[in-house]
Amino acid sequence: MFLDGMDVAWEKTPFLTNRLLIRSEEQISKLKNAGISYVFIDPDRSRVIEDKTNVSQELDKIKFIKKEEILDVEGHVEMDEAVLFKKGSDQNEFDGLPYTKEDLDKFFSEFHNYTHIDKTTLVVGTYVTFPLYVKRDLQIIQLFVLKNKDIPITEEILAIENDFFIHINDKIKYKGYLTELMSLKSSNGSSELIRNRVVKENSKLLMEELLADPRSGAKLKECQQNIDAIVSSMQENNSLTNGLFTINKSDYYTYTHCVNVSVLAVGLAINLGMNKQTEIFALAMGGMLHDIGKCKIPHSILNKPTKLTDDEFRVMKSHVLIGKKLLSFHSDISKETIYSLTEHHEKMTGKGYPHGLAAENLHFAGKVVAMADVYDALTTARPYKKAFGSFEALSIIRSQLEDYDMEIFLSFVKMLGN
Ligand SMILES: [Fe+2]
Repeated sequence: MFLDGMDVAWEKTPFLTNRLLIRSEEQISKLKNAGISYVFIDPDRSRVIEDKTNVSQELDKIKFIKKEEILDVEGHVEMDEAVLFKKGSDQNEFDGLPYTKEDLDKFFSEFHNYTHIDKTTLVVGTYVTFPLYVKRDLQIIQLFVLKNKDIPITEEILAIENDFFIHINDKIKYKGYLTELMSLKSSNGSSELIRNRVVKENSKLLMEELLADPRSGAKLKECQQNIDAIVSSMQENNSLTNGLFTINKSDYYTYTHCVNVSVLAVGLAINLGMNKQTEIFALAMGGMLHDIGKCKIPHSILNKPTKLTDDEFRVMKSHVLIGKKLLSFHSDISKETIYSLTEHHEKMTGKGYPHGLAAENLHFAGKVVAMADVYDALTTARPYKKAFGSFEALSIIRSQLEDYDMEIFLSFVKMLGN
């Protein structure tokens, strides 16, 4: 139980603080001997302590890949925000890249007019009324020219390897296309799949809008409705084939990452036995909003293709407290949602940020979102790192498991292995 206060001043007790995790009978005896009659318990920080030896024995049976076989670095690596290999200083950071800093700035000033779409959502045999674009190096290229005609989605179009984009002015048309897909009657039983992909895609578009206008109550409400749909779908079918879990093959976009983390966190919570609707919903919201503070981080840092300097990394880290501040503008955010956001970069070892909280002070919601966050970061491509495969990512996390909750990790491995 997490003790959150007592009826005696803590200086008069054998404890260093009056807020601590009570783990043993011995500690309870100490409390009694100190003359304490009443204590206050924080149920959110209390938990069932499992026998860790069972969990570690189960983990020992799994043949993870050795970290040295995956990564070309030694020692503890920084994995948050996918800064793997990224932190440090370079003499000339654009050395060896086929473009200059000016090229990159010019590209991003244009690129924010485009939204990444998940091409698996496009259905062969349907038509789109808006152009599709691909990104090649630092160029946005239109895939075909519209001549007042709808474009049929074909196998050939979907076989194009690059990520697909739409212009932000076509978002309403794309949303209309997604709504039409929902009404598609499928004879091969894939309508659930299509529905879930549409829900996920709509969540992503909304998240992008919320990042642009994080104080909007109306956008947040829409986001909550979408999360309701995600949670119900996950409760009906919590498997990798449900269309909500998608393997990242694309580059990193904050809005996509937020939706992925939300889906993974909900899956984890369900697998860990969470069944209270309000708690699952709060966690899903936490996953969705955990990086909302990134809306205030300059794109030159967020999308920097090379290593971050210490100062830049400091700015990057500020997204957590900025996010917390942004949530304070909304009235109906639960505390589990806030913990998910504030603790998603904390570590069990106390070496995380922003507060360096250690295991006993971390909430379940924070630990679940931290796990989902690091996994999604590892499985996404960045200009300076490839997207690791699912088992590679799990193996990297396993190699630094002291930072994460072991039981949550085991459950995660089982969930992704099913
Ligand atoms: Fe983050």
